[in-house]
This record gives sequence, structure tokens and C-alpha cells, in this order.
Amino acid sequence: MSADKVTNGSERAIGDDGFRAQPKGFATKAIHVAQDPEQWKSMAVVPPISMSTTFKQHGPAQHAGFEYGRSGNPTRDVLERCLASLDNGKYGLTFSSGLGVTTTIITMLSAGDHVVAGDDLYGGTNRLLRQVAMKMNIAVDFVDTTDLAKVEAAIKPNTKLFWLETPTNPLLKVADIEAVCKIAHKFPGVMVVVDNTFLSAYLQRPLDLGADVVMYSLTKYMNGHSDVIMGAAVMNDEALYERLKFLQNAAGIVPSPFDCYLVNRSLKTLALRMERHKSNSLAVAKFLEAHSKVERVLHPGLPSHPQHELAKKQTYGHSGIMSFYIKGGLDESSAFLKALQVFTLAESLGGYESLAELPSVMTHASVPAEQRAQLGITDGLVRISVGLEDVDDLIVDLKQALEKV
Ligand SMILES: Cc1ncc(COP(=O)(O)O)c(C=O)c1O
Repeated sequence: MSADKVTNGSERAIGDDGFRAQPKGFATKAIHVAQDPEQWKSMAVVPPISMSTTFKQHGPAQHAGFEYGRSGNPTRDVLERCLASLDNGKYGLTFSSGLGVTTTIITMLSAGDHVVAGDDLYGGTNRLLRQVAMKMNIAVDFVDTTDLAKVEAAIKPNTKLFWLETPTNPLLKVADIEAVCKIAHKFPGVMVVVDNTFLSAYLQRPLDLGADVVMYSLTKYMNGHSDVIMGAAVMNDEALYERLKFLQNAAGIVPSPFDCYLVNRSLKTLALRMERHKSNSLAVAKFLEAHSKVERVLHPGLPSHPQHELAKKQTYGHSGIMSFYIKGGLDESSAFLKALQVFTLAESLGGYESLAELPSVMTHASVPAEQRAQLGITDGLVRISVGLEDVDDLIVDLKQALEKV
């Protein structure tokens, strides 16, 4: 491990792989923050699931911390506090899905406000901005967030929200969070939200880099077992937290206590899982890059990636998600996807199991065809989520499927 200077002048430790080195303590926080057995009368080591929708009060309006399950729940509270600590944030809030977080943040805006969003985004975020926010007279501009001059030029006097996803979905472009935040914060009243779903709190911590809110589809790496749909927002500013907490209750987009229990359980292995995703995915990326039927691999851990140096500077490594262009079009990519045996042809990402999909007709079908063409989301672009299986089995599977093309 060595030390280097980051742009803000502070020391940054570098790991053997060239990415930021993890400071000590992440796994301990994931296992212990907010989990103290002494908070429960039973002294339960694993936080119990409180399914009750209502809580007894000592006297009228004299409750013991919880009143009604939508406004607060003990199992959810444990998860929210643990999540906040993982992002070095003060406050965490959970929602019934990742898009539920986005919807709630949009309800902070008013007609006439303006949003700047990355041009390569999760398809559902794109759909929500275009087909819901714009209908409410909220203007949205999409910009290439890797181009800082375009970022600055996109901000208007009525801009209230900068929505940044990095690495982007599905093209894995990496935006400079610190630089984007500095630009956005030159303009009063602009809130920067970073969708950190692709990397998890283990591999990237946007609040440390100047973001106002970090949001997640917890459905992906943070839960990691493909059995919960949930979202979260973490922040430091108290007034922002109070507003979002109000909206969490007022709009009612809340998760179930059982799901909160599952995600809290999953966080205990987040560090371990992400290390394995990281090493499996780099091995797979190198294999694909060397294959004659593959045109180009998009993986920030490869030196060929246009923002490889930036990825090393701002993240603690790359996760299991990558995309690649197979030589040919829909026939070739379909033949490949249908031939996979260990990888499953399915949407989503971030689970222990490896998945593969075709964004142009699956996750990103709702992105207008013109925008897809402009961005390069072609029928030959395959997205994979490398899971936790033995990496040799994954490579054998990819090899045999590529032979069927
Ligand atoms: C980057 C990203 N953000 C947000 C979402 C939305 O999350 P959810 O499906 O939990 O609503 C997804 C879902 O795929 C995603 O990939």
C-alpha cells in the first residue's frame, strides 16, 4: 500500500490493485452498528423482526419512539442506522424500491424546477424523469457527465437537482463525483444525488466526495441475494433528512419489516461478497477482452477503459457488472445469451448468481430508440453481472456460449 495526494489535498491510501485501499473498519461497522443486543429486552443478538403495524403509547401522544409502522419501525430503524454508517453519513432512510427513493426525491421539487441527469442511466430512472417528472412540468436535461464543460453548461438558474449515476448503466462510464459536486455546488440550491447502486457502499462512498445524497437500489449488491426489492438514501444534512423523512411517511413508499430484516442480514457479508465480485469480474473481463468474438469490453478495472485512472482514484475497486459488444447484432447476442448455462438470462444485477441480459430489448427498452442509438446501446451490447460462483466455471460457460455464436 502506498500514499498519494487526491485533489482536495488529503492523503489517500492506494491498494495493490491501484484502486483506493479500504480504510479499516467497514466490515465491523456492517456487523455491529445499530445491532446492539442490549436495545432489546430479549437481548437478541440478531435484531428481531417487528411486524406490528402499531405501537402502544404510555399516554395520548406519549410514545416510546414508534407510533405507526409507516412512520417508523424498529427493524427498519436498525437497518437505516447501519446503512448511514457504511456511507459515513449521519442519516439513512429506506424505501420500498430504488425507484421509490427517486420518486420521493422528485416530490421535493415543484413545477418549473429543472433537473440535470446523466445521459446514460438506469432505464427506469430515465422513464420516471421523462414520463412522470416532465408531465409535472419539471424540466429535465440529460448530459454526458464525463464531460465537465457540458456538466457546467447544463445547470440553469432553476436547477434544483443533479442526478448522477456512476458507473453508468449500461455503458459503465465513470463520472468524477468530486468535480461534478464542486461545479454543481457553485450554484445555490442544487442538490447532487449519486446513484451508487452499481458499486455499493463498500466500493464507492459519494458523500465523502461531496455528494448531498447517496441513493441505492438495495435490491442489488447491498442485499445481494436477489430476494428483496428495496431502496435507500443516506445523507449528512439534517434539514434534508427531516424533509425526506417527512416525505417517506407522507408519500408512504416504505419497505416491509421482513425485507428490512433480510437486507440488514445481508449487509453482514457485504465486504466479503464485494471482494469476490471484484476479483471474479476482473478475471471475466480479461477473458472477454482477449476473445476474438468480442469487439470491446466496458469494465472500469481494465486499463483500456477510458476512465480507468479516475475509477482508481475515486473507488475501492469495481463490482461484478460490465457490458461488452459482441461482434454482430441481435442474432449473435441472442445465440450467445440462449447458450449460457451457468449465467442466467435475466434482468437485474448484484446478486450472488451470475446474470446476463440484452439492455436494448430488456432493461433499457424504455429509453427512446434515438437516445439508445446515440449512446451506443446497440443489439450487440450485452450486460453481465458476475456473481460469486467459481470463476473458472463462469469462464468455461462464457467460452462455450461464445462458440455457439
Ligand atoms: C442503477 C440503478 N438504479 C436504480 C434502480 C431501481 O431500483 P429498484 O429496481 O430497486 O426500484 C436500478 C434497478 O435496476 C438500477 O440498476
